[in-house]
Amino acid sequence: MCALAWIASVVSVTAPIDPTTTAAWSRLAELKDSFEPDLRGWFAAHPDRARELTRTVGDLHVDLSKNLVTGEVLDALVALAEETGVRERFADMLRGVHLNTSEDRAVLHTALRRPAGAEPALVVDGQQVDHDVHEVLDRLSAFADRVRSGEWRGVTGKKVETVVNIGIGGSDLGPVMVYEALLPYADAGPTRPEAPRGASATGGEGVGSIHARFVSNIDPADIAQKTADLDPETTLFIVASKTFTTLETLTNARLARDWLWEKLGAAGAIDDTDAARTDAVAHHFVAVSTALDKVEAFGIDPTNAFGFWDWVGGRYSVDSAIGLSLAITLGPDAFRDLLAGFHAVDEHVASTPLTENVPVLMGLLNVWYTNFLGAQSHAVLPYAQQLHRFAAYLQQLTMESNGKSVRWDGTPVTTDTGEVFWGEPGTNGQHAFYQLIHQGTRLIPADFIAFVNPAYPLADEGRDVHGLFLANFLAQTKALAFGKTAEEVEAEGTTGALVAARTFPGNRPTTSIFAPSLTPSVLGQLIALYEHITFTQGTIWGINSFDQWGVELGKQLALQIAPAIEGDDEALAAQDASTRGLLDYYRAHR
Ligand code: F6P
Repeated sequence: MCALAWIASVVSVTAPIDPTTTAAWSRLAELKDSFEPDLRGWFAAHPDRARELTRTVGDLHVDLSKNLVTGEVLDALVALAEETGVRERFADMLRGVHLNTSEDRAVLHTALRRPAGAEPALVVDGQQVDHDVHEVLDRLSAFADRVRSGEWRGVTGKKVETVVNIGIGGSDLGPVMVYEALLPYADAGPTRPEAPRGASATGGEGVGSIHARFVSNIDPADIAQKTADLDPETTLFIVASKTFTTLETLTNARLARDWLWEKLGAAGAIDDTDAARTDAVAHHFVAVSTALDKVEAFGIDPTNAFGFWDWVGGRYSVDSAIGLSLAITLGPDAFRDLLAGFHAVDEHVASTPLTENVPVLMGLLNVWYTNFLGAQSHAVLPYAQQLHRFAAYLQQLTMESNGKSVRWDGTPVTTDTGEVFWGEPGTNGQHAFYQLIHQGTRLIPADFIAFVNPAYPLADEGRDVHGLFLANFLAQTKALAFGKTAEEVEAEGTTGALVAARTFPGNRPTTSIFAPSLTPSVLGQLIALYEHITFTQGTIWGINSFDQWGVELGKQLALQIAPAIEGDDEALAAQDASTRGLLDYYRAHR
Protein backbone atom coordinates (compact mmCIF):
# COMPACT_ATOMS: atom_id res chain seq x y z
CA MET A 1 0.00 0.00 0.00
CA CYS A 2 2.75 2.42 0.98
CA ALA A 3 4.73 1.30 -2.04
CA LEU A 4 1.83 2.17 -4.33
CA ALA A 5 1.48 5.61 -2.78
CA TRP A 6 5.18 6.15 -3.23
CA ILE A 7 5.05 5.13 -6.89
CA ALA A 8 2.14 7.50 -7.42
CA SER A 9 4.00 10.52 -6.13
CA VAL A 10 7.06 9.75 -8.25
CA VAL A 11 5.10 9.26 -11.45
CA SER A 12 2.99 12.36 -10.95
CA VAL A 13 6.08 14.60 -11.18
CA THR A 14 7.72 12.81 -14.10
CA ALA A 15 7.69 14.91 -17.23
CA PRO A 16 6.07 13.36 -20.27
CA ILE A 17 8.38 12.22 -23.02
CA ASP A 18 8.20 14.58 -25.98
CA PRO A 19 7.32 12.23 -28.86
CA THR A 20 8.85 14.57 -31.42
CA THR A 21 12.30 14.09 -29.87
CA THR A 22 12.26 10.30 -30.22
CA ALA A 23 14.19 8.36 -32.84
CA ALA A 24 10.91 6.74 -33.91
CA TRP A 25 9.36 10.13 -34.64
CA SER A 26 12.32 11.12 -36.82
CA ARG A 27 12.03 7.82 -38.64
CA LEU A 28 8.28 8.37 -39.21
CA ALA A 29 8.95 11.90 -40.51
CA GLU A 30 11.52 10.47 -42.91
CA LEU A 31 9.13 7.74 -44.09
CA LYS A 32 6.38 10.30 -44.52
CA ASP A 33 8.57 12.42 -46.82
CA SER A 34 8.75 9.67 -49.41
CA PHE A 35 5.38 8.12 -48.61
CA GLU A 36 3.19 7.19 -51.55
CA PRO A 37 0.07 5.35 -50.49
CA ASP A 38 -0.77 2.55 -52.89
CA LEU A 39 -3.23 0.03 -51.48
CA ARG A 40 -3.79 -1.52 -54.91
CA GLY A 41 -0.10 -2.00 -55.45
CA TRP A 42 0.57 -3.19 -51.89
CA PHE A 43 -2.18 -5.81 -52.04
CA ALA A 44 -0.99 -6.96 -55.47
CA ALA A 45 2.62 -7.23 -54.36
CA HIS A 46 1.81 -8.93 -51.02
CA PRO A 47 -0.97 -11.48 -51.36
CA ASP A 48 -0.71 -12.13 -47.61
CA ARG A 49 -1.22 -8.49 -46.62
CA ALA A 50 -4.78 -9.00 -45.35
CA ARG A 51 -3.83 -12.03 -43.27
CA GLU A 52 -0.65 -10.44 -41.95
CA LEU A 53 -2.42 -7.28 -40.91
CA THR A 54 -5.44 -8.89 -39.28
CA ARG A 55 -5.47 -9.14 -35.49
CA THR A 56 -7.82 -10.58 -32.89
CA VAL A 57 -8.84 -9.17 -29.56
CA GLY A 58 -11.47 -11.13 -27.63
CA ASP A 59 -14.26 -11.80 -30.12
CA LEU A 60 -13.23 -8.93 -32.37
CA HIS A 61 -11.65 -9.70 -35.72
CA VAL A 62 -9.78 -6.56 -36.69
CA ASP A 63 -8.58 -6.12 -40.26
CA LEU A 64 -5.97 -3.35 -40.39
CA SER A 65 -4.84 -4.16 -43.91
CA LYS A 66 -6.69 -1.31 -45.62
CA ASN A 67 -4.76 1.28 -43.65
CA LEU A 68 -2.13 3.46 -45.27
CA VAL A 69 0.83 1.73 -43.74
CA THR A 70 3.81 -0.28 -44.85
CA GLY A 71 5.76 -2.66 -42.65
CA GLU A 72 8.37 0.07 -42.12
CA VAL A 73 5.75 2.55 -40.93
CA LEU A 74 4.24 0.01 -38.56
CA ASP A 75 7.67 -0.83 -37.13
CA ALA A 76 8.37 2.84 -36.51
CA LEU A 77 4.97 3.33 -34.90
CA VAL A 78 5.53 0.41 -32.56
CA ALA A 79 8.94 1.87 -31.72
CA LEU A 80 7.20 5.16 -30.92
CA ALA A 81 4.92 3.37 -28.44
CA GLU A 82 7.99 1.80 -26.87
CA GLU A 83 9.93 5.04 -26.65
CA THR A 84 7.02 6.95 -25.12
CA GLY A 85 6.33 4.22 -22.54
CA VAL A 86 2.80 3.22 -23.51
CA ARG A 87 3.10 -0.22 -21.94
CA GLU A 88 4.61 1.08 -18.69
CA ARG A 89 1.99 3.81 -18.35
CA PHE A 90 -0.80 1.29 -18.92
CA ALA A 91 0.65 -0.86 -16.14
CA ASP A 92 0.80 2.24 -13.93
CA MET A 93 -2.86 2.93 -14.64
CA LEU A 94 -3.88 -0.62 -13.73
CA ARG A 95 -2.16 -0.43 -10.35
CA GLY A 96 -3.56 2.91 -9.34
CA VAL A 97 -0.79 5.42 -9.94
CA HIS A 98 -2.21 8.95 -9.95
CA LEU A 99 -2.12 9.48 -13.72
CA ASN A 100 -4.77 12.16 -13.39
CA THR A 101 -2.20 14.68 -12.22
CA SER A 102 -4.33 17.83 -12.38
CA GLU A 103 -6.80 16.29 -9.92
CA ASP A 104 -4.22 14.09 -8.15
CA ARG A 105 -6.31 10.97 -8.69
CA ALA A 106 -5.77 7.39 -9.68
CA VAL A 107 -7.42 6.28 -12.93
CA LEU A 108 -9.03 2.96 -12.23
CA HIS A 109 -11.97 2.31 -14.53
CA THR A 110 -10.24 -0.99 -15.35
CA ALA A 111 -10.83 -2.01 -11.70
CA LEU A 112 -14.58 -1.81 -12.25
CA ARG A 113 -14.45 -4.92 -14.40
CA ARG A 114 -11.91 -7.06 -12.57
CA PRO A 115 -13.50 -10.38 -11.72
CA ALA A 116 -14.25 -11.15 -8.09
CA GLY A 117 -11.24 -12.70 -6.41
CA ALA A 118 -8.71 -11.41 -8.97
CA GLU A 119 -5.13 -11.75 -7.73
CA PRO A 120 -3.25 -9.85 -6.48
CA ALA A 121 -5.97 -7.83 -4.76
CA LEU A 122 -5.95 -4.18 -5.72
CA VAL A 123 -5.32 -1.80 -2.82
CA VAL A 124 -4.89 1.84 -3.78
CA ASP A 125 -4.42 4.79 -1.44
CA GLY A 126 -5.58 2.57 1.40
CA GLN A 127 -8.79 1.56 -0.34
CA GLN A 128 -9.65 -2.12 -0.84
CA VAL A 129 -10.68 -1.46 -4.42
CA ASP A 130 -11.82 -4.95 -5.45
CA HIS A 131 -13.86 -5.36 -2.30
CA ASP A 132 -15.61 -2.02 -2.73
CA VAL A 133 -16.29 -2.54 -6.43
CA HIS A 134 -17.91 -5.91 -5.87
CA GLU A 135 -19.85 -4.75 -2.86
CA VAL A 136 -21.56 -2.09 -5.00
CA LEU A 137 -21.97 -4.45 -7.94
CA ASP A 138 -23.70 -7.01 -5.74
CA ARG A 139 -26.01 -4.40 -4.22
CA LEU A 140 -26.80 -3.03 -7.65
CA SER A 141 -27.56 -6.52 -8.98
CA ALA A 142 -29.83 -7.29 -6.05
CA PHE A 143 -31.65 -4.01 -6.51
CA ALA A 144 -32.05 -4.62 -10.23
CA ASP A 145 -33.51 -8.04 -9.51
CA ARG A 146 -35.98 -6.55 -7.04
CA VAL A 147 -37.19 -4.08 -9.63
CA ARG A 148 -37.33 -6.71 -12.39
CA SER A 149 -39.20 -9.24 -10.28
CA GLY A 150 -41.74 -6.69 -9.11
CA GLU A 151 -40.68 -6.92 -5.48
CA TRP A 152 -39.86 -3.22 -5.63
CA ARG A 153 -43.11 -1.31 -6.05
CA GLY A 154 -44.13 2.28 -6.59
CA VAL A 155 -45.97 4.23 -3.93
CA THR A 156 -49.37 2.88 -5.05
CA GLY A 157 -48.13 -0.70 -5.16
CA LYS A 158 -47.55 -0.98 -8.90
CA LYS A 159 -44.58 -2.64 -10.56
CA VAL A 160 -41.98 -0.46 -12.33
CA GLU A 161 -42.45 -0.33 -16.11
CA THR A 162 -40.13 2.56 -17.02
CA VAL A 163 -36.85 3.75 -15.59
CA VAL A 164 -35.82 7.29 -16.44
CA ASN A 165 -32.10 7.92 -16.15
CA ILE A 166 -31.43 11.60 -15.45
CA GLY A 167 -27.78 12.43 -16.12
CA ILE A 168 -25.55 14.10 -18.67
CA GLY A 169 -22.19 13.48 -20.33
CA GLY A 170 -20.73 10.28 -18.97
CA SER A 171 -23.75 9.83 -16.74
CA ASP A 172 -25.94 9.61 -19.83
CA LEU A 173 -24.07 8.76 -23.02
CA GLY A 174 -22.79 5.36 -21.87
CA PRO A 175 -26.11 4.12 -20.49
CA VAL A 176 -28.16 5.34 -23.45
CA MET A 177 -25.68 3.98 -26.01
CA VAL A 178 -25.52 0.56 -24.35
CA TYR A 179 -29.30 0.40 -23.81
CA GLU A 180 -29.98 1.09 -27.47
CA ALA A 181 -27.29 -1.37 -28.54
CA LEU A 182 -28.55 -4.20 -26.35
CA LEU A 183 -32.28 -3.58 -26.55
CA PRO A 184 -32.88 -7.13 -27.80
CA TYR A 185 -31.73 -8.27 -24.36
CA ALA A 186 -34.23 -6.08 -22.53
CA ASP A 187 -36.77 -8.23 -20.81
CA ALA A 188 -38.39 -8.41 -17.41
CA GLY A 189 -37.57 -11.22 -15.06
CA PRO A 190 -34.62 -11.97 -12.88
CA THR A 191 -32.53 -13.88 -15.40
CA ARG A 192 -30.92 -12.87 -18.64
CA PRO A 193 -32.76 -13.87 -21.79
CA GLU A 194 -31.10 -16.02 -24.40
CA ALA A 195 -28.78 -14.39 -26.91
CA PRO A 196 -30.73 -12.13 -29.25
CA ARG A 197 -30.20 -14.22 -32.33
CA GLY A 198 -33.69 -15.12 -33.47
CA ALA A 199 -35.28 -12.39 -31.38
CA SER A 200 -38.71 -11.41 -32.51
CA ALA A 201 -39.06 -8.44 -34.82
CA THR A 202 -40.00 -6.36 -31.80
CA GLY A 203 -36.83 -7.34 -30.00
CA GLY A 204 -36.88 -7.61 -26.25
CA GLU A 205 -39.73 -5.20 -25.81
CA GLY A 206 -42.18 -7.95 -25.05
CA VAL A 207 -44.94 -7.97 -22.46
CA GLY A 208 -43.51 -7.14 -19.08
CA SER A 209 -40.28 -5.49 -20.33
CA ILE A 210 -38.96 -2.57 -18.35
CA HIS A 211 -38.16 0.27 -20.70
CA ALA A 212 -35.59 2.99 -20.17
CA ARG A 213 -35.61 6.63 -21.12
CA PHE A 214 -32.77 9.08 -20.79
CA VAL A 215 -33.13 12.73 -19.90
CA SER A 216 -29.97 14.79 -20.21
CA ASN A 217 -30.40 18.22 -21.75
CA ILE A 218 -31.38 21.21 -19.62
CA ASP A 219 -33.63 22.23 -22.53
CA PRO A 220 -37.03 21.67 -20.86
CA ALA A 221 -38.22 20.02 -24.06
CA ASP A 222 -36.18 16.96 -23.12
CA ILE A 223 -37.86 16.11 -19.84
CA ALA A 224 -41.25 17.36 -21.02
CA GLN A 225 -41.24 15.03 -24.02
CA LYS A 226 -39.75 12.06 -22.21
CA THR A 227 -42.31 12.17 -19.38
CA ALA A 228 -45.36 13.23 -21.41
CA ASP A 229 -46.86 9.75 -21.77
CA LEU A 230 -45.46 8.17 -18.61
CA ASP A 231 -47.50 6.83 -15.73
CA PRO A 232 -45.96 8.20 -12.52
CA GLU A 233 -47.14 5.14 -10.59
CA THR A 234 -44.92 2.83 -12.69
CA THR A 235 -41.94 5.16 -13.23
CA LEU A 236 -38.63 4.96 -11.39
CA PHE A 237 -36.18 7.86 -11.74
CA ILE A 238 -32.45 7.26 -11.47
CA VAL A 239 -30.53 10.45 -10.78
CA ALA A 240 -27.04 9.71 -12.10
CA SER A 241 -24.32 12.23 -11.39
CA LYS A 242 -20.76 11.64 -10.32
CA THR A 243 -20.54 14.99 -8.54
CA PHE A 244 -24.26 15.51 -7.84
CA THR A 245 -23.66 19.20 -8.55
CA THR A 246 -24.27 19.28 -12.31
CA LEU A 247 -26.74 22.03 -13.18
CA GLU A 248 -28.55 20.10 -15.90
CA THR A 249 -29.00 16.95 -13.85
CA LEU A 250 -30.10 18.60 -10.64
CA THR A 251 -32.51 20.87 -12.49
CA ASN A 252 -34.02 17.90 -14.32
CA ALA A 253 -34.16 15.88 -11.10
CA ARG A 254 -36.15 18.66 -9.41
CA LEU A 255 -38.45 18.94 -12.43
CA ALA A 256 -38.97 15.17 -12.33
CA ARG A 257 -39.79 15.32 -8.63
CA ASP A 258 -42.30 18.12 -9.22
CA TRP A 259 -43.83 16.10 -12.07
CA LEU A 260 -44.13 13.04 -9.84
CA TRP A 261 -45.80 14.94 -7.01
CA GLU A 262 -48.15 16.77 -9.35
CA LYS A 263 -49.21 13.69 -11.32
CA LEU A 264 -49.61 11.47 -8.28
CA GLY A 265 -51.53 14.24 -6.54
CA ALA A 266 -53.81 14.77 -9.54
CA ALA A 267 -54.53 11.01 -9.60
CA GLY A 268 -55.42 11.13 -5.91
CA ALA A 269 -52.54 8.74 -5.16
CA ILE A 270 -50.86 11.07 -2.64
CA ASP A 271 -51.85 14.19 -0.75
CA ASP A 272 -49.65 17.28 -0.52
CA THR A 273 -48.26 16.64 2.95
CA ASP A 274 -44.48 16.45 3.35
CA ALA A 275 -44.77 12.88 4.56
CA ALA A 276 -46.66 11.75 1.45
CA ARG A 277 -44.24 13.53 -0.82
CA THR A 278 -41.20 12.09 0.93
CA ASP A 279 -42.73 8.63 0.66
CA ALA A 280 -43.33 9.14 -3.07
CA VAL A 281 -39.68 10.13 -3.60
CA ALA A 282 -38.54 7.10 -1.62
CA HIS A 283 -40.50 4.81 -3.94
CA HIS A 284 -39.73 6.53 -7.23
CA PHE A 285 -36.21 7.98 -6.95
CA VAL A 286 -32.84 6.29 -6.59
CA ALA A 287 -29.41 7.77 -7.24
CA VAL A 288 -25.92 6.95 -8.43
CA SER A 289 -23.09 9.22 -7.32
CA THR A 290 -19.73 9.58 -5.65
CA ALA A 291 -21.30 12.25 -3.40
CA LEU A 292 -23.76 10.28 -1.29
CA ASP A 293 -24.14 13.16 1.20
CA LYS A 294 -25.52 15.35 -1.58
CA VAL A 295 -27.87 12.54 -2.65
CA GLU A 296 -29.32 12.51 0.83
CA ALA A 297 -29.64 16.28 0.88
CA PHE A 298 -31.72 16.03 -2.28
CA GLY A 299 -34.17 13.79 -0.40
CA ILE A 300 -33.18 10.40 -1.76
CA ASP A 301 -32.82 7.67 0.84
CA PRO A 302 -29.08 6.72 1.01
CA THR A 303 -30.10 3.05 1.15
CA ASN A 304 -31.37 3.55 -2.39
CA ALA A 305 -28.13 5.14 -3.61
CA PHE A 306 -25.24 3.42 -5.31
CA GLY A 307 -21.76 4.83 -5.03
CA PHE A 308 -18.63 4.94 -7.09
CA TRP A 309 -15.32 6.70 -6.64
CA ASP A 310 -13.40 9.76 -7.79
CA TRP A 311 -10.97 7.50 -9.68
CA VAL A 312 -13.70 6.77 -12.24
CA GLY A 313 -13.90 9.51 -14.86
CA GLY A 314 -17.42 10.34 -16.05
CA ARG A 315 -16.72 9.19 -19.60
CA TYR A 316 -15.24 5.96 -18.27
CA SER A 317 -18.13 5.22 -15.91
CA VAL A 318 -20.71 3.16 -17.81
CA ASP A 319 -19.30 0.06 -16.17
CA SER A 320 -19.75 1.53 -12.66
CA ALA A 321 -23.07 1.93 -10.86
CA ILE A 322 -23.81 4.55 -13.53
CA GLY A 323 -24.98 1.48 -15.48
CA LEU A 324 -27.86 0.89 -13.04
CA SER A 325 -30.49 1.55 -15.73
CA LEU A 326 -28.80 -1.20 -17.78
CA ALA A 327 -28.77 -3.71 -14.93
CA ILE A 328 -32.49 -3.11 -14.47
CA THR A 329 -33.54 -3.22 -18.12
CA LEU A 330 -31.10 -5.82 -19.47
CA GLY A 331 -30.64 -7.78 -16.26
CA PRO A 332 -27.64 -8.01 -13.92
CA ASP A 333 -26.26 -11.05 -15.76
CA ALA A 334 -26.10 -9.15 -19.03
CA PHE A 335 -24.48 -6.23 -17.20
CA ARG A 336 -21.83 -8.57 -15.79
CA ASP A 337 -21.26 -10.01 -19.27
CA LEU A 338 -20.66 -6.45 -20.48
CA LEU A 339 -18.04 -6.01 -17.74
CA ALA A 340 -16.39 -9.32 -18.65
CA GLY A 341 -16.05 -8.06 -22.22
CA PHE A 342 -14.27 -4.93 -20.99
CA HIS A 343 -11.96 -7.02 -18.85
CA ALA A 344 -10.97 -9.31 -21.72
CA VAL A 345 -9.61 -6.28 -23.59
CA ASP A 346 -7.86 -4.91 -20.49
CA GLU A 347 -6.05 -8.23 -20.22
CA HIS A 348 -5.18 -8.16 -23.90
CA VAL A 349 -3.59 -4.71 -23.63
CA ALA A 350 -1.64 -5.63 -20.52
CA SER A 351 -0.24 -8.91 -21.82
CA THR A 352 0.00 -8.78 -25.62
CA PRO A 353 3.16 -7.71 -27.47
CA LEU A 354 2.76 -4.28 -29.04
CA THR A 355 2.89 -5.68 -32.57
CA GLU A 356 -0.24 -7.73 -31.81
CA ASN A 357 -1.88 -5.32 -29.40
CA VAL A 358 -5.02 -4.12 -31.13
CA PRO A 359 -5.89 -0.97 -29.15
CA VAL A 360 -2.24 0.13 -29.18
CA LEU A 361 -1.94 -0.47 -32.93
CA MET A 362 -5.17 1.41 -33.64
CA GLY A 363 -4.03 4.29 -31.45
CA LEU A 364 -0.70 4.35 -33.28
CA LEU A 365 -2.45 4.43 -36.65
CA ASN A 366 -4.44 7.44 -35.44
CA VAL A 367 -1.18 9.16 -34.48
CA TRP A 368 0.23 8.41 -37.95
CA TYR A 369 -2.82 9.93 -39.64
CA THR A 370 -3.07 12.91 -37.31
CA ASN A 371 0.57 13.88 -36.96
CA PHE A 372 2.09 12.76 -40.25
CA LEU A 373 -0.67 12.55 -42.88
CA GLY A 374 -2.68 15.59 -41.77
CA ALA A 375 -6.01 13.99 -40.86
CA GLN A 376 -8.19 16.12 -38.62
CA SER A 377 -11.12 13.85 -38.08
CA HIS A 378 -11.92 10.18 -37.70
CA ALA A 379 -15.16 8.51 -38.72
CA VAL A 380 -16.67 5.59 -36.82
CA LEU A 381 -19.24 3.84 -38.97
CA PRO A 382 -21.12 0.98 -37.34
CA TYR A 383 -23.00 -1.29 -39.69
CA ALA A 384 -25.44 -1.88 -36.86
CA GLN A 385 -28.45 0.35 -36.32
CA GLN A 386 -28.35 -0.66 -32.67
CA LEU A 387 -25.06 1.27 -32.37
CA HIS A 388 -26.64 4.51 -33.51
CA ARG A 389 -25.42 6.35 -30.38
CA PHE A 390 -21.92 4.86 -30.49
CA ALA A 391 -20.31 7.82 -32.26
CA ALA A 392 -21.89 10.24 -29.78
CA TYR A 393 -20.52 8.13 -26.94
CA LEU A 394 -17.07 8.06 -28.53
CA GLN A 395 -17.12 11.82 -29.01
CA GLN A 396 -17.06 12.33 -25.25
CA LEU A 397 -14.64 9.47 -24.68
CA THR A 398 -12.09 10.62 -27.22
CA MET A 399 -12.56 14.37 -27.44
CA GLU A 400 -13.03 15.15 -23.75
CA SER A 401 -10.01 12.92 -23.10
CA ASN A 402 -7.57 14.08 -25.77
CA GLY A 403 -8.83 17.54 -26.77
CA LYS A 404 -5.98 19.21 -24.88
CA SER A 405 -3.19 21.66 -25.58
CA VAL A 406 -1.15 21.10 -22.45
CA ARG A 407 0.56 17.98 -21.24
CA TRP A 408 0.25 16.28 -17.87
CA ASP A 409 3.03 18.42 -16.43
CA GLY A 410 1.34 21.66 -17.56
CA THR A 411 3.71 22.34 -20.46
CA PRO A 412 2.38 22.87 -24.00
CA VAL A 413 1.90 19.87 -26.25
CA THR A 414 4.55 19.50 -28.91
CA THR A 415 2.34 18.33 -31.75
CA ASP A 416 -1.29 18.23 -32.85
CA THR A 417 -3.60 16.26 -30.57
CA GLY A 418 -7.15 14.86 -30.55
CA GLU A 419 -9.06 14.36 -33.77
CA VAL A 420 -12.75 15.10 -34.25
CA PHE A 421 -14.63 11.81 -33.95
CA TRP A 422 -17.95 11.48 -35.69
CA GLY A 423 -20.15 9.00 -37.50
CA GLU A 424 -23.53 7.51 -38.21
CA PRO A 425 -24.63 3.95 -38.75
CA GLY A 426 -24.40 2.59 -42.28
CA THR A 427 -26.19 2.74 -44.64
CA ASN A 428 -27.63 6.06 -43.46
CA GLY A 429 -24.18 7.59 -43.63
CA GLN A 430 -23.69 6.28 -47.16
CA HIS A 431 -26.62 8.41 -48.30
CA ALA A 432 -25.39 11.46 -46.45
CA PHE A 433 -21.66 12.12 -46.09
CA TYR A 434 -19.76 9.23 -47.69
CA GLN A 435 -19.40 11.31 -50.85
CA LEU A 436 -16.82 13.47 -49.08
CA ILE A 437 -14.95 10.46 -47.71
CA HIS A 438 -14.75 8.88 -51.17
CA GLN A 439 -13.99 11.88 -53.34
CA GLY A 440 -13.36 14.89 -51.12
CA THR A 441 -10.01 16.57 -50.58
CA ARG A 442 -9.60 15.56 -46.96
CA LEU A 443 -8.15 12.41 -45.49
CA ILE A 444 -10.70 10.79 -43.19
CA PRO A 445 -9.63 7.50 -41.65
CA ALA A 446 -12.69 5.42 -40.81
CA ASP A 447 -13.47 2.46 -38.58
CA PHE A 448 -16.18 0.15 -39.87
CA ILE A 449 -17.88 -2.07 -37.28
CA ALA A 450 -20.10 -4.98 -38.28
CA PHE A 451 -21.61 -8.18 -36.92
CA VAL A 452 -22.03 -11.49 -38.68
CA ASN A 453 -25.36 -12.36 -37.06
CA PRO A 454 -28.27 -9.95 -36.83
CA ALA A 455 -30.46 -9.44 -33.79
CA TYR A 456 -33.45 -9.24 -36.12
CA PRO A 457 -33.16 -11.82 -38.90
CA LEU A 458 -35.65 -10.53 -41.44
CA ALA A 459 -36.03 -11.54 -45.07
CA ASP A 460 -37.21 -9.49 -48.01
CA GLU A 461 -38.46 -11.41 -51.03
CA GLY A 462 -36.52 -14.41 -49.80
CA ARG A 463 -33.26 -12.48 -49.29
CA ASP A 464 -31.58 -12.09 -45.94
CA VAL A 465 -31.70 -8.33 -45.32
CA HIS A 466 -28.76 -8.43 -42.93
CA GLY A 467 -26.68 -10.09 -45.65
CA LEU A 468 -27.47 -7.18 -47.93
CA PHE A 469 -26.48 -4.78 -45.17
CA LEU A 470 -23.14 -6.56 -44.74
CA ALA A 471 -22.55 -6.48 -48.49
CA ASN A 472 -22.69 -2.69 -48.17
CA PHE A 473 -20.11 -2.70 -45.38
CA LEU A 474 -17.74 -4.80 -47.49
CA ALA A 475 -18.40 -2.77 -50.62
CA GLN A 476 -17.69 0.56 -48.95
CA THR A 477 -14.37 -0.49 -47.45
CA LYS A 478 -13.37 -1.97 -50.79
CA ALA A 479 -14.33 1.15 -52.74
CA LEU A 480 -12.52 3.40 -50.28
CA ALA A 481 -9.34 1.34 -50.43
CA PHE A 482 -9.08 0.54 -54.10
CA GLY A 483 -11.16 3.24 -55.79
CA LYS A 484 -11.91 3.16 -59.49
CA THR A 485 -9.41 4.35 -62.08
CA ALA A 486 -10.16 6.54 -65.09
CA GLU A 487 -9.39 3.55 -67.32
CA GLU A 488 -11.96 1.45 -65.52
CA VAL A 489 -14.52 4.22 -65.83
CA GLU A 490 -13.81 4.60 -69.57
CA ALA A 491 -14.01 0.85 -70.06
CA GLU A 492 -17.62 1.13 -68.94
CA GLY A 493 -18.31 3.56 -71.78
CA THR A 494 -18.04 6.86 -69.94
CA THR A 495 -16.31 9.68 -71.86
CA GLY A 496 -15.31 13.34 -71.49
CA ALA A 497 -15.59 15.32 -68.29
CA LEU A 498 -17.71 12.65 -66.66
CA VAL A 499 -14.70 10.37 -66.47
CA ALA A 500 -13.04 12.47 -63.80
CA ALA A 501 -16.30 12.85 -61.87
CA ARG A 502 -16.77 9.10 -61.83
CA THR A 503 -13.20 8.28 -60.85
CA PHE A 504 -12.50 7.25 -57.26
CA PRO A 505 -8.95 7.87 -56.05
CA GLY A 506 -8.94 5.08 -53.45
CA ASN A 507 -6.27 4.97 -50.73
CA ARG A 508 -8.89 6.09 -48.21
CA PRO A 509 -7.90 4.22 -45.04
CA THR A 510 -10.27 2.01 -43.11
CA THR A 511 -10.14 -0.50 -40.28
CA SER A 512 -12.77 -3.25 -40.32
CA ILE A 513 -13.93 -4.59 -36.97
CA PHE A 514 -16.05 -7.71 -37.33
CA ALA A 515 -17.62 -9.79 -34.55
CA PRO A 516 -20.03 -12.72 -34.45
CA SER A 517 -22.95 -10.88 -32.76
CA LEU A 518 -23.61 -7.72 -30.80
CA THR A 519 -23.74 -9.34 -27.36
CA PRO A 520 -23.13 -7.60 -24.02
CA SER A 521 -19.62 -9.03 -23.89
CA VAL A 522 -18.78 -7.91 -27.42
CA LEU A 523 -20.08 -4.43 -26.68
CA GLY A 524 -17.89 -4.27 -23.57
CA GLN A 525 -14.94 -5.30 -25.73
CA LEU A 526 -15.68 -2.56 -28.24
CA ILE A 527 -15.92 0.14 -25.59
CA ALA A 528 -12.71 -0.98 -23.91
CA LEU A 529 -11.02 -1.08 -27.31
CA TYR A 530 -11.74 2.63 -27.82
CA GLU A 531 -10.86 3.50 -24.22
CA HIS A 532 -7.40 2.07 -24.76
CA ILE A 533 -7.00 3.57 -28.24
CA THR A 534 -7.66 6.91 -26.53
CA PHE A 535 -5.17 6.04 -23.79
CA THR A 536 -2.47 5.14 -26.33
CA GLN A 537 -2.84 8.42 -28.20
CA GLY A 538 -2.97 10.43 -24.98
CA THR A 539 0.20 8.78 -23.71
CA ILE A 540 2.12 9.44 -26.90
CA TRP A 541 1.07 13.08 -26.90
CA GLY A 542 1.88 13.44 -23.17
CA ILE A 543 -1.74 14.25 -22.31
CA ASN A 544 -3.65 13.64 -19.11
CA SER A 545 -6.66 11.97 -20.78
CA PHE A 546 -8.61 11.93 -17.53
CA ASP A 547 -9.44 15.55 -16.69
CA GLN A 548 -11.72 17.99 -18.53
CA TRP A 549 -10.98 21.55 -17.46
CA GLY A 550 -12.10 22.80 -20.85
CA VAL A 551 -15.75 22.41 -19.96
CA GLU A 552 -15.54 24.59 -16.85
CA LEU A 553 -15.43 28.14 -18.23
CA GLY A 554 -18.74 27.86 -20.08
CA LYS A 555 -20.41 26.44 -16.98
CA GLN A 556 -19.18 29.39 -14.86
CA LEU A 557 -20.23 31.97 -17.43
CA ALA A 558 -23.71 30.43 -17.76
CA LEU A 559 -24.22 31.03 -14.05
CA GLN A 560 -23.10 34.65 -14.45
CA ILE A 561 -25.31 35.23 -17.48
CA ALA A 562 -28.46 33.58 -16.08
CA PRO A 563 -29.40 36.66 -13.96
CA ALA A 564 -29.24 38.83 -17.10
CA ILE A 565 -31.72 36.48 -18.78
CA GLU A 566 -33.94 36.83 -15.74
CA GLY A 567 -33.92 40.66 -16.00
CA ASP A 568 -30.98 41.79 -13.87
CA ASP A 569 -29.73 44.97 -15.63
CA GLU A 570 -26.44 45.00 -13.76
CA ALA A 571 -25.66 41.49 -15.00
CA LEU A 572 -26.64 42.61 -18.50
CA ALA A 573 -24.33 45.62 -18.38
CA ALA A 574 -21.43 43.43 -17.28
CA GLN A 575 -21.49 41.46 -20.53
CA ASP A 576 -19.40 42.03 -23.66
CA ALA A 577 -21.09 43.85 -26.56
CA SER A 578 -21.99 40.74 -28.52
CA THR A 579 -23.50 38.90 -25.55
CA ARG A 580 -25.36 42.10 -24.57
CA GLY A 581 -26.77 42.35 -28.08
CA LEU A 582 -28.01 38.78 -27.97
CA LEU A 583 -29.56 39.36 -24.56
CA ASP A 584 -31.27 42.51 -25.89
CA TYR A 585 -32.69 40.42 -28.74
CA TYR A 586 -33.90 37.85 -26.20
CA ARG A 587 -35.60 40.49 -24.09
CA ALA A 588 -37.21 42.12 -27.13
CA HIS A 589 -38.69 38.89 -28.42
CA ARG A 590 -39.84 37.00 -25.35
O1 F6P B 1 -18.98 17.76 -19.21
C1 F6P B 1 -18.22 17.73 -18.09
C2 F6P B 1 -18.57 16.59 -17.19
O2 F6P B 1 -17.86 16.75 -16.01
C3 F6P B 1 -18.31 15.22 -17.79
O3 F6P B 1 -16.99 14.84 -17.72
C4 F6P B 1 -19.24 14.38 -17.00
O4 F6P B 1 -19.41 13.12 -17.59
C5 F6P B 1 -20.46 15.23 -17.01
O5 F6P B 1 -19.96 16.55 -16.86
C6 F6P B 1 -21.49 14.94 -15.95
O6 F6P B 1 -20.98 15.07 -14.65
P1 F6P B 1 -21.68 14.44 -13.42
O7 F6P B 1 -21.76 12.97 -13.60
O8 F6P B 1 -20.86 14.84 -12.24
O9 F6P B 1 -23.08 15.02 -13.33
